[in-house]
Amino acid sequence: MTTTPLQGSAGDRLAETFADYVPSLEGRDVVTIRPRYGLVIGGEERSPRDGGSYPTIEPATGGALAEVAEAGPADVDDAVAAARRAYEDGWRDMPGRRRAVYLFRLARLVQDRARELAVLESIDGGKPIRESRDIDVPLAAAHLFHHAGWADKLEYAVPGMRARPLGVVGQIIPWNFPLLMAAWKIAPALACGNTIVLKPAETTPLTALLLAELIREAEIPAGVVNIVTGAGATGAALASHPGIDKVAFTGSTEVGKGIRRALAGTGTRLTLELGGKGAHLVFDDAALDQAVEGIVDGIFLNQGHVCCAGSRLLAQEGIADELLARLRRRIELLRIGDPLDKNTDVGAINSASQLEIIRGYVDGAASAGCRIDQPSRPLPQRGFWFPPTIVSGVGGSETIVREEVFGPVLTVQTFRTEAEAVAKANATRYGLSAGVWTEKGSRILWVSERLRAGVVWANCFNQFDPASPFGGVRESGFGREGGRQGLAEYLTLDPAA
Ligand code: NAI
Ligand code: MG
Repeated sequence: MTTTPLQGSAGDRLAETFADYVPSLEGRDVVTIRPRYGLVIGGEERSPRDGGSYPTIEPATGGALAEVAEAGPADVDDAVAAARRAYEDGWRDMPGRRRAVYLFRLARLVQDRARELAVLESIDGGKPIRESRDIDVPLAAAHLFHHAGWADKLEYAVPGMRARPLGVVGQIIPWNFPLLMAAWKIAPALACGNTIVLKPAETTPLTALLLAELIREAEIPAGVVNIVTGAGATGAALASHPGIDKVAFTGSTEVGKGIRRALAGTGTRLTLELGGKGAHLVFDDAALDQAVEGIVDGIFLNQGHVCCAGSRLLAQEGIADELLARLRRRIELLRIGDPLDKNTDVGAINSASQLEIIRGYVDGAASAGCRIDQPSRPLPQRGFWFPPTIVSGVGGSETIVREEVFGPVLTVQTFRTEAEAVAKANATRYGLSAGVWTEKGSRILWVSERLRAGVVWANCFNQFDPASPFGGVRESGFGREGGRQGLAEYLTLDPAA
């Protein structure tokens, strides 16, 4: 791979600045990680019927943290049956104001235990504590609060319709925002009166299992939320289970397509939140330093393990060189290392296999003749790491421009006109997010209307709010999470009598 570290005195001065920092470590002792975890079915923690388990790894060290149960088909059967019983024996018919009480309690418990949840998220998944503390956990609580507020007001969410719950929902979530995705899925489903079987991702099960403890503490009735840990086979058993009324999946486009095929013709409801290849469109009148911060946040947040990451920079020709120079300088300032250090900007790659995927893409880009820029400082020795990377000199047909890397890798292209910018931004099979950077309001509107993306941010990026629907078009999936649109995905609607 051709690496071009920053040369000369500017780089040296930055290196000196870094030497002045001392680590500010968040304490690991606020969490207790048990040696082994079972499945949570019908309010009980129990071993899987065939006794299978696997270790969850700490990405920052590569060491094993705990043995986690692997649910087989019989366990998934049990979990679906427990969810059905809880649905029919009370949850379905409970007044919305009572469901709201449970959700408010859970939201408060997430806030009370925020520090513990944040530390555990960073240990199990590798993301910087600054992010788990300031983004993941507060947003998870916000989703629970928001939906608690809707539980007794569903008739206003969809005016003119009578809203009923769907029944038992199967929810499969990825490893990039483990607690937040659990909250995104659980909160609307419960608010609408459904019961749940949730499958966390195999590399990051621990915060969902801690959330299960909080669910018990909130006295949410047994069986309303069941948690089956395991890998793809467990997910497949859940997604195709005949006792499920809806599947909500967040993950790769490939697996999402498989689930859609498996459910075709069954009448089971489905929402898919899949991959993305989001573009930043930076026009020559944009506030450049502000754009640099937005671009850095857009692609290096959570090591780029973000479905809506802004992984393609499209810069207008007049400012492209200057913008790229500022970005190269900016990545030299990013602090890469211990996720529990409060100074850390970029943490560990989630798994050895994801690291291999990222390396493959960047090596491929280097062989294709692209220029690769990475910070000059060394990476930690143990664990899984990949430096923030800028790939320039691309034409547009390279694999790295077309496929989701799901790592800290930004590609750079240029454009001359609005029309060209829109055409390049839309030249992808995905359609999840985009960012427009310009001082001109009419241009924001013109461009946004033409971008094929579920979310368009203007002069900012990666802004989330539970009241704002999130989701994709084309191969980024369908269905929305958040807002009134997200509630409707968990309801059967009939015309009001
Ligand atoms: P994945 O799609 O396999 O994993 C997501 C979830 O689906 C996990 O809980 C997994 O256990 C489950 N799953 C896997 N196979 C399944 C099946 N056949 N039926 C039902 N559930 C199944 O993603 P993976 O392999 O971890 O990552 C590979 C690539 O996928 C990444 O490099 C990235 O490009 C993309 N990805 C995108 C995500 C997003 O949020 N858009 C999240 C995770 C991965
Ligand atoms: Mg892990």
